[in-house]
Amino acid sequence: MIRSVVRGNGAALPRRIMKNADFEGMVETSDEWIVQRTGIRQRHVAADDETTASLGEAAARAALDSAGMTPADIDLIILATSTPNNTFPATAVEIQNRLGMHHGFAFDMQAVCSGFVYAVATADLYIRGGLAKRVLVIGSETFSRILDWSDRSTCVLFGDGAGALVLEAEDGAGAITDRGVLAASLRSDGVHKDKLFVDGGPSTTGTVGHLRMEGREVFKHAVGMITDVIEATFGEAGITAEDLDWFVPHQANKRIIDASAKKLGIAEEKVVVTVDLHGNTSAASVPLALSVAVADGRIKKGDLVLLEAMGGGFTWGAVLLRW
Ligand code: ACO
Repeated sequence: MIRSVVRGNGAALPRRIMKNADFEGMVETSDEWIVQRTGIRQRHVAADDETTASLGEAAARAALDSAGMTPADIDLIILATSTPNNTFPATAVEIQNRLGMHHGFAFDMQAVCSGFVYAVATADLYIRGGLAKRVLVIGSETFSRILDWSDRSTCVLFGDGAGALVLEAEDGAGAITDRGVLAASLRSDGVHKDKLFVDGGPSTTGTVGHLRMEGREVFKHAVGMITDVIEATFGEAGITAEDLDWFVPHQANKRIIDASAKKLGIAEEKVVVTVDLHGNTSAASVPLALSVAVADGRIKKGDLVLLEAMGGGFTWGAVLLRW
């Protein structure tokens, strides 16, 4: 059977780093509160000349370099984002143009923080369905543009950045030992809309709006949803937590990551945590975490890696792949 195998990965971060202490003059907060409640120590914040498209392009170029490919080799670009450069056209098409790519096709995917997991699962279906051979999957966000910088309960949590993977079709045996995407499980439920949303949009207010979140409510649901979808993925693949080499969760809150890993029986040393460095970068958080763990030599070819995310909607999902 055809498998979607990772050939390369890359990341890009805005130049400016904002430390927790930098918020202390802006809103009533402290480094201690932010670290204790979230594990976040710093985040990158985009300057005016840094956009979802420019960061996505930089991450895509890094992923292509690491794959030893050029844009000419790519058939499809899927960009996971909730902060597109424009309402339309899709920012994926803008990135396609920035890469000098005038063949193939590109589209955006919107599942908030779960976007990258949705996009990898979707790319896998395009590859296995024979519609594409090599896909650039990008998660890129500039959440700093939709934050209410006077709301301490949200503005300290998010950051900007981008990450990307190149997936390529390869023949596999149909076994768990194959490289590539092995199983995926996706969920959503709109009943939770008001717990995490943006209070504007083209069809309602005609404005972009600002992020609003009932953090405690999101927290309450997060661990249960994350563990359900991971257990479904384990069931589909016929594995247990012990078989995993690496768990790369969405980086929203260290306490959610720790509680999910504990409930699933995933050993602490197998969990990749980068929320301290990047904050919550929504659809960019999983590929950014992957880029850190690949660069420092933790994730290696042949490792069994579990990706997971949960976000606005609510949406949630998991992808199991062998690197
Ligand atoms: N600094 C200091 N105090 C603060 C801050 C801050 N930055 N923010 C809130 N507080 C205060 C609150 O006002 C509250 O004060 P009160 O008790 O006087 O009312 C107190 O701290 C406790 O607030 P809680 O919201 O109960 O704090 P909690 O421990 O739940 O932590 C947090 C808040 C970090 C937001 C947590 O609930 C969380 O991580 N939620 C989940 C977020 C998440 O996972 N999002 C998922 C995806 S995001 C996406 O899809 C876009």
